[in-house]
Amino acid sequence: MNNSKVLIVDDDPMIRDALAEILSSVGGYNTEIAINGDEGIEKIKDTKYDIVFTDLTMPDVNGMDLLREAKKINSDVPVVVITGYSTIENAVAAMKEGAYDFITKPFKIDKVISLANKIIGEKKLLDNIEIKYDQKASIEKLNAELFSKLQEISVFQTLSTELDGLHNNREIYERIVGMVTRLFVVKEASFGLIENNVLKIKSSIGVKKDIIPLKNTFFEKVISSKNHYIAKCGEINPHSDAIINSSFLSIPLSVNNEVFGILNLAEKSDGLGFSEDEIYLALNFAKKAALRIENNALYDVLYNNLVSALKSLVIIIEARDPYTRHHSERVTSYSLEIADVIGLSEEDKEAIRFGGYLHDIGKIGVRDTVLLKPDRLSNEEIEEIRQHTVIGDNIMKPLKFFEKEKPIIRNHHERFDGTGYPDGLRGEQIPLIVRIIALADSYDAMTSSRPYRKARSHEFALEEMVRCSNTQFDPELVKAFLNTPGLKNKGIWNKKYFL
Ligand SMILES: [Fe+2]
Repeated sequence: MNNSKVLIVDDDPMIRDALAEILSSVGGYNTEIAINGDEGIEKIKDTKYDIVFTDLTMPDVNGMDLLREAKKINSDVPVVVITGYSTIENAVAAMKEGAYDFITKPFKIDKVISLANKIIGEKKLLDNIEIKYDQKASIEKLNAELFSKLQEISVFQTLSTELDGLHNNREIYERIVGMVTRLFVVKEASFGLIENNVLKIKSSIGVKKDIIPLKNTFFEKVISSKNHYIAKCGEINPHSDAIINSSFLSIPLSVNNEVFGILNLAEKSDGLGFSEDEIYLALNFAKKAALRIENNALYDVLYNNLVSALKSLVIIIEARDPYTRHHSERVTSYSLEIADVIGLSEEDKEAIRFGGYLHDIGKIGVRDTVLLKPDRLSNEEIEEIRQHTVIGDNIMKPLKFFEKEKPIIRNHHERFDGTGYPDGLRGEQIPLIVRIIALADSYDAMTSSRPYRKARSHEFALEEMVRCSNTQFDPELVKAFLNTPGLKNKGIWNKKYFL
C-alpha cells in the first residue's frame, strides 16, 4: 500500500473517477477527488498532497488558476495537468507556470502510474538529502562533485582522442606522463618500459632516475600480480629511495596479458591519497594507452610484413628480367636526388623511397615471352607491357596503406603533355612525386641495356630529356635533374645545361 496522497481535480466525473481508480487500485495511492477548481484549492489549503492532478479546462476556476493558487499555498507540490491533444499548447503554458508534467486524454494506465511513481521517487530522494544535510549545502556539494566529475570525464575524453592520434609508440612513451598529469595534480610521475629486470624510464616529472632496478621494489608485485598497487606510508619510493609519507599509485600496462611497462603517480599536491574515482580513471587511462600501444605494434607488424611481401615481388620480377635488375633502386636513387634539389618534404621522400622501388611491380603480370622478347614488339605486345601500370595498381588497391605510393605505380608512364598512359593525365594532374619518378625512370631506361637494344650514353639521355622537356617531362624537374650532384659530379655532360 502506497501512503502517498494524490488529489484529482476534474469537473468531468468519468475522467475523475477513472484516474482515481487507476491510481488507487493499480498504483496503491491514497486518492481524493475535487469536482471543481474551488473545491480543489480548499482541499490543498487543508491537506499536504504529494501530487495534484488537475484538468485544465474547467468552468469558473480553471486548471491554470488552480495551479497558481496551489503554488502559492505550497510551492513544492507537484501539479500534473490533464489536457486533450487539441489543447496541448495550454499544457506547455502550464509547464512554464510551474506544472511538473502533463498527461493527455485519453491517458494510458502505465503512463499515469509511472509518472506518479517518478514524482514520489524524486520526492523521497530529496527528503533523504534534507534529513542528512542542510538542503542548500547538500545541493551545492552535489553540484561541485558533479562538476568535477564532468571535468574529469571531459579531460579523459580529450586524452583518449589525443592517444588515438598517436601512431608512433615512441611518442606515446614520451607523452604519456604529461597526459596523465593533466588528470591528476601530482609532484612525481613516471612511465617506464620493463627491460632486463629494470624499469627504463621513458618520461617523467619530478623523477631523477633514468633506470630503476626492479629487485626489492613493489614494481615486482605490480608485474607478478598484473594489478595496480597503492603503496603504503613507510614503504620505499622506487623513484627516490626515500620513505613514502604520501600517496604512490603504480599501474601496469599490458599487451597479451604480459606487463611491458609501468605508469607511476606519486605525491598528490593536495597531500591526500588517491580516491577510488581517481584510481578508476587512472586505470582506464592506462588501459586505453596500452591498447593504443598494442594497436600501433600490430600496425607496424602488418605494415612491415606487407613491405617485405612487396619487396619480394620486385626481387622476383628483377630475377626474371636481368636487364631490369637494380633498375628500381637506380630510379629511386635518381628521384631522391631530384627531391633534394627541389626541397621535398621527408614524407614525400619516404613515398619516393618505397614507391620508386615498387613502381614496376605490375610487370609480375606480363608474360616472359613479351617482357623478355629480344625483337621489336608488336602493337599487341606493347599494349600488354603497358598493362603493368594497371596490374600494379590492382595489386596495391586492396591494401589500406601506401596511399602516396599508389599513384607512382599506376601513373609513372604518364607524360607532361597528357599523351602518356594509362589515364592520360597531364601537367599537375600528375602528382609531383610521380612526375619525378617518371623522369628518373625514363633516364634509367635509356641508359640501361634492353633486350632489343644496348644502353645509350648519358649524354644522349640528357639531350633527349632536354628535348622532351615540356612534352614528356615537367621542365622544372628536368632543370632540377640536371642540377643533381650525381650528374654534376660525374662531369658527364655538356656544361651548357647547367643552371
Ligand atoms: Fe614502368
